[in-house]
Amino acid sequence: MARICITDAIPEASAEKLRATNHEVSIWDGAEPPTRSELLELVAGADAVLTVLSDGVDEEFLDAAGPQLRIVANVAVGYNNIDLAACRARGVVVTNTPGVLFDATADIAFGLLLAVTRRLGEGERLIRSGRPWRYRTTFMLGRSIEGKTIGLIGAGQIGTAMARRCRAFGMAIAYAEEHPMREPAASELAATGMPLDELVAGCDVISLHCPLTAETHHILNAERMAAMRPGSYVINTARGACIDEQALAEALASGHLGGAGLDVYEDEPRVNPALLELENVVLLPHLGSANIETRTAMCDLAAENALAVLAGRPAPSAV
Ligand code: DGY
Repeated sequence: MARICITDAIPEASAEKLRATNHEVSIWDGAEPPTRSELLELVAGADAVLTVLSDGVDEEFLDAAGPQLRIVANVAVGYNNIDLAACRARGVVVTNTPGVLFDATADIAFGLLLAVTRRLGEGERLIRSGRPWRYRTTFMLGRSIEGKTIGLIGAGQIGTAMARRCRAFGMAIAYAEEHPMREPAASELAATGMPLDELVAGCDVISLHCPLTAETHHILNAERMAAMRPGSYVINTARGACIDEQALAEALASGHLGGAGLDVYEDEPRVNPALLELENVVLLPHLGSANIETRTAMCDLAAENALAVLAGRPAPSAV
């Protein structure tokens, strides 16, 4: 019997599957996520840990868990919260949850795109404010996305699912060739690959779907934002630090950019106060994969990874 530790509440259906094994299962049940010291205490002695993207898995975490730890199963497709080299050096397998959350995340990215271009946030805030309003021919006009071009930075499963939604709404699809789209999707979607700098300068919307790595940190920086088309939009459902958030706030405040739809933040869960001041920004609290079906599938896959490694089998989705 091994000890499986889960650092956050998970859907009951996934928890049941783990409890049905002969392993000891402990699930964090606090009303708030564990503090760092609570997390370190929780994982002590675990053979397998199911982590979430706010758990920093580093040397300190691995020391606290102990030498028996065999797998860190991240309940996320992104794994920038994990020090892979440190895990590898200790022989700890790291897994993520690809293939189960791309549609959910693309739904949120596309929802943000419509929300920001059609000013849904502003409209909602106006109604709730109680301020008077009347239908006028030129009142709160947004922009149509039909006939516009979306530029994807990151065209893997999530970027491709976003492209499918955009194509269905009449958009042309382009992607940064540094992060290419696979066939047959690229041909089906008539998607055009181009160098990142050309993409950024030539599209009406830039949407980020890349992992956060040293290479993609601030991939959308002040210089690239300055090169974007006046009035164009930014959508980010990837990781906050892929964008220089302060430079984004400035480009939005100056009116150079038309708006932004953000689900993720550089210093999550803190949101840059400059963004909160702006009407042309739609802000969500990292909801990309947040629907019951998707979160259950993510937790099930993480659990399968843990059980496989504990049974001496290869993990289905090792990174
Ligand atoms: C992920 O899986 O990396 C997402 O950001 C979680 O919603």
